[in-house]
Amino acid sequence: MTASNLPLPPGDFGLPLIGDTLNFFRDPNYGQKQHEKYGPIFKTRLLGSPTLFVKGADANQFVLTNDNKYFAISWPPSTKALLGNLSLALQTGGEHQNRRKLLAQAFMPRALSGYIDTVEAITHSYAQRWVQTQNLTWYPELRNYTFDVACKLLVGLDQGAQTELGHLFETWCAGLFSIPLALPWTRFGQAKQARKQVLVLLEEIIRQRQQSPDVGNDALSLLIQAKDDNGQGLTIDELKDQVLLLLFAGHETLTSAIASFCLLVAQHPHVLEALRAEQVSIGVHTPMTLDVLRQMPYLEQVLQEVLRLIPPVGGGFRKVLKTCEFNGYRIPEGWTVLYEINQTHLNSDDYETPADFRPERFAKGVRSKYSYVPFGGGIRECLGKEFARLEMKLFAVELLRNYQWDLLPDQDLSMVIVPTPHPRDNLKVRFQTYA
Ligand code: HEM
Repeated sequence: MTASNLPLPPGDFGLPLIGDTLNFFRDPNYGQKQHEKYGPIFKTRLLGSPTLFVKGADANQFVLTNDNKYFAISWPPSTKALLGNLSLALQTGGEHQNRRKLLAQAFMPRALSGYIDTVEAITHSYAQRWVQTQNLTWYPELRNYTFDVACKLLVGLDQGAQTELGHLFETWCAGLFSIPLALPWTRFGQAKQARKQVLVLLEEIIRQRQQSPDVGNDALSLLIQAKDDNGQGLTIDELKDQVLLLLFAGHETLTSAIASFCLLVAQHPHVLEALRAEQVSIGVHTPMTLDVLRQMPYLEQVLQEVLRLIPPVGGGFRKVLKTCEFNGYRIPEGWTVLYEINQTHLNSDDYETPADFRPERFAKGVRSKYSYVPFGGGIRECLGKEFARLEMKLFAVELLRNYQWDLLPDQDLSMVIVPTPHPRDNLKVRFQTYA
């Protein structure tokens, strides 16, 4: 039997045209509920396109190892328009491979090692401010924090969140997953306008850097000098789109990851105690290097568990290039597939009591490569994975060694999922020095 004769997966297309789009965006448990009804693969309609939701290690492996053969990256129309055509996230095939190799230079161990002092200094200065404030709404603060880190490390800009770039960037971000209707009063229209202005500011920064005798030691300096296999560098238009992508990718996801770490550790005092004990055993004044950071197995397990339980990216969209078969079902050409990171991480075959926060489950490592995919996998695996892990660790170490944070009462800790998971009331805490 050929793939075209196989049955379609079970499921329901929902309302004409919009299908189940509203439920998908509104209900954080949408995928879970549909899987309970239909099993590990189901069909529906999202944003006008017939879409298959797939979860589990086998499905992830099938999708992620067949990128370019059966599948190609796909983004909602609003995201596509706002990222720009020259962004790595939209490039495919040989062009994607070539650009990925070039951009990866900003995330090599030598580059990462050079970022440590900057991340530590920014973390320390934010934490000092939080101690002064004491009772704070943390999530917006964490957004500013990760944006400041990204701006400094990527383009050498200080206190980026307070600059015009920071304000425009927020407007741009707010339109990324919106209805693509470009009118002056729509979120998408405002985000498109913000993109134009952001690109003007980025161009100024890049041109200044190109003309300066001091090339700097941030990611931009590496990207300005980087050459691909044919000896070609990036044009200014491509540099702008790539820097914009990195600013976004490095900010939104990390804010969610760090906020989830703060929340889960505050809710599990025995984990906090063990984390602090690990810091004491290393020596709380030991300076941070990539080597020292590798000597924190418990912190490593905690961060792995945070990204399992509340993955910042819930899944990845792909367009089907060619009709194929998975698990006896037809996967038709032209449809969209969503490989679900969050649902995969809750699979009880791979994780005992999957809803519980139990960092020790990673003491023996990950059970199978594709059952744990917070950073995706295959040729489009997260380019900033090591950088993300570095920033999360440095942030955690600074807090564990010096501060105490407690959740304030009377707040809604249920999760908003779009664009990245965070507590509905923005995580209110009492923040103090740890004696
Ligand atoms: C791609 C997760 C941080 C840059 C991805 C993908 C995931 C992901 C799941 C693949 C999406 C897909 O398959 O469609 C995360 C998480 C992060 C994080 C959970 C933080 C905890 C970062 C950082 C950067 C970054 C800090 C850079 C500064 C990228 C880029 C891609 C990507 C450029 C696209 C790669 C490509 O298409 O080849 N990320 N990410 N990410 N990430 Fe991350």
